[in-house]
Amino acid sequence: MFIANVFFNKLFNVESGITNRQLFFNQLAPTSFAPLALEIIKAEGCKLWDASGKEYIDLIGGISVCNTGHRHPAVIKAIQQQLDCYMHVMVYGEVIQSPQTKYAQYLTQHLPATLNCVFFTASGSEATEGSMKLAKRLTGRSQVIAFNNSYHGSTQGALSVMGSEYWRNAYRPLLPDVLHLDYNNFSHLEHITADTACVIAETIQAEAGRPQYFFRW
Ligand SMILES: Cc1ncc(COP(=O)(O)O)c(C=O)c1O
Repeated sequence: MFIANVFFNKLFNVESGITNRQLFFNQLAPTSFAPLALEIIKAEGCKLWDASGKEYIDLIGGISVCNTGHRHPAVIKAIQQQLDCYMHVMVYGEVIQSPQTKYAQYLTQHLPATLNCVFFTASGSEATEGSMKLAKRLTGRSQVIAFNNSYHGSTQGALSVMGSEYWRNAYRPLLPDVLHLDYNNFSHLEHITADTACVIAETIQAEAGRPQYFFRW
């Protein structure tokens, strides 16, 4: 780890004597008011270790990105094999890259027959954007129906369908023609009409917190 740090400092000409914690707070744009700010130096399975050697059980798993556990040997092997061939060649689906085509085949084999085509994105927000664009283009309509208390990502379009003023208010004006309905209110479903391009729902809610009935369990 020490050698890696020395190499990195030399490569990027980082001023010595500044800790990673200081760099984190001084040089990185904050994305939350109170970041955990654990300096993670190793991760394995469901465990994390910080710079002081303290061990943590990771109950977040990169918000489901590391859902095979950290550094799963099969994942490491696949990445290493791919690194020996190429890393990145081109975006926008211009060239055929077999890991991507094979993964698309694998995914579609596990989906209903009508979901037979995959649009890969690097984030959930992009998936939200892509879905709304696809729906608008395909239907020729503009109305998007979303739900109060839902979370859809941090891009402008995703914020427009987000179900809370807390997230979206600072970024107005947002996308027009977005209507928010309440979950579990069947009469609200009447707002879905022939003018609606798509309905977007966070089917398993997280950011909204626990509904009251959870407390009775
Ligand atoms: C339901 C849902 N949609 C969209 C997103 C946005 O994903 P990302 O942060 O990768 O842009 C999230 C992120 O937690 C999410 O939970």
